Amino acid sequence: MNVSVIGSGYVGTTLAACLAEMGHDVLNVDLDESIVDAINAGECPIHEEGLPELVEKHAGENLRAATDYDEVAETDLSFICVQTPTQDDGSLDYSYVESAAEMLGESIAEKADKHVVATKSTVLPGTTENVVGPALERTSGKTVDEDLGLVMNPEFLSEGTAVHDFWHPDKIVIGATDDESGDLVTDLYAAGDLLDDAELVRSDLRTAEMVKYANNAFLAAKISLVNELGNICKTADIDAYEVAEAVGMDDRIGSKFLRSGLGWGGSCFPKDVDALRAFARNNEYEPTLLNGVVDVNDRQPGRLVDLAASHVDLDGARVAVLGLAFKPGTDDVRNSRAIPVVERLRDAGADVVAYDPVAIENAKTAIDDDSVEYEDSAEAALEGADAALVCTDWDEFDALSFKGMKRKVLIDGRRIDVDRDELDVYEGLCW
Ligand code: UGA
Repeated sequence: MNVSVIGSGYVGTTLAACLAEMGHDVLNVDLDESIVDAINAGECPIHEEGLPELVEKHAGENLRAATDYDEVAETDLSFICVQTPTQDDGSLDYSYVESAAEMLGESIAEKADKHVVATKSTVLPGTTENVVGPALERTSGKTVDEDLGLVMNPEFLSEGTAVHDFWHPDKIVIGATDDESGDLVTDLYAAGDLLDDAELVRSDLRTAEMVKYANNAFLAAKISLVNELGNICKTADIDAYEVAEAVGMDDRIGSKFLRSGLGWGGSCFPKDVDALRAFARNNEYEPTLLNGVVDVNDRQPGRLVDLAASHVDLDGARVAVLGLAFKPGTDDVRNSRAIPVVERLRDAGADVVAYDPVAIENAKTAIDDDSVEYEDSAEAALEGADAALVCTDWDEFDALSFKGMKRKVLIDGRRIDVDRDELDVYEGLCW
């Protein structure tokens, strides 16, 4: 099939490269010339495991990139994978989605055949119908349900494992305005055998949009619940991980996403849960439970710092923060729980020295505080420290040596697998 993918972020590039690997002809459109040049040169524009190999293999063959939409009309199907930033008032900015749809519409105005456009960006229910559809109709002169088909096909790709997640989906959700358009997207994935092991969910547009939000809200809520249970366990001197392991044996609950600790961050959960809460309020429903999910998450960094303060006078203390990325395997620090930890330590008068294997440059921009020192190894950060706080569970932390610390106090927000006997004080956030 001939497919165009608009946007070359981690979702768009992963989709484009994996569709090329399936054997489809893929055009990846992005306005950023440097990204387009990189893809055409066979270089991957983003840090994502397994993606560089795919981009290198297919660039110049059945994967090409362009800054213009000129060749989009030659494709059968287009995916919109552009960003939807949060605005100051908390609502989502659909201007990138809308302008991508407008440019796409212009490019297919002369196309004789029907064109199908699928939204992959995470958008609130109603957006494909009320923003994408009208933008396409305005500039293409085509009409939805006649010569224009609309689809919502949400992604469930986690950063760092996006390529793996693409090949092993639990489900593929395809909401469409008409059966023919939905069938086209179904056939696209069937070509790569993706449907052999995944459940196929066909629905209308709004249901598919809601599934994505419900999925992320459920996962965020699961972590906040396990964190609340962990906080309760801690008050009673019970190991929350032993409890979670047993609880996860119940098929109805499942064993994944039961790691209690510092909470959830990243570019998706916080933004999506907030957007869903705002959507609910706009519909005059107060989302009490989701409000609690966010409250529990917001409290965890403060609890970690309070735990440290119960062992060390933080004022004037040298405190190492280990891990800045929102999760291991990525350099992304957006909404990382490490950031409020650093800020609270600094507010308590501590001298913060931070280390992360890959996220230091991004953290420097996000934290914007000259008083925070950064080291290029965990050992260097621990040297002379009065305490260390673990914020990201990087594998390398399991082999930490605490020899250089002034006081061997480790406050663990992520349950790393260190030798606790080496420490004077080991405290887990929920265990
Ligand atoms: C998440 C979803 O997992 C994807 O399915 C979804 O497609 C993506 O958002 C999106 O909306 O695009 P991601 O943000 O990459 O993916 O990160 P996750 O691996 O889900 O982790 C989110 C946060 O939860 C991290 O901060 C992680 O440390 C935390 N977490 C996860 C826990 O605290 N405990 C757990 O047991 C699991």
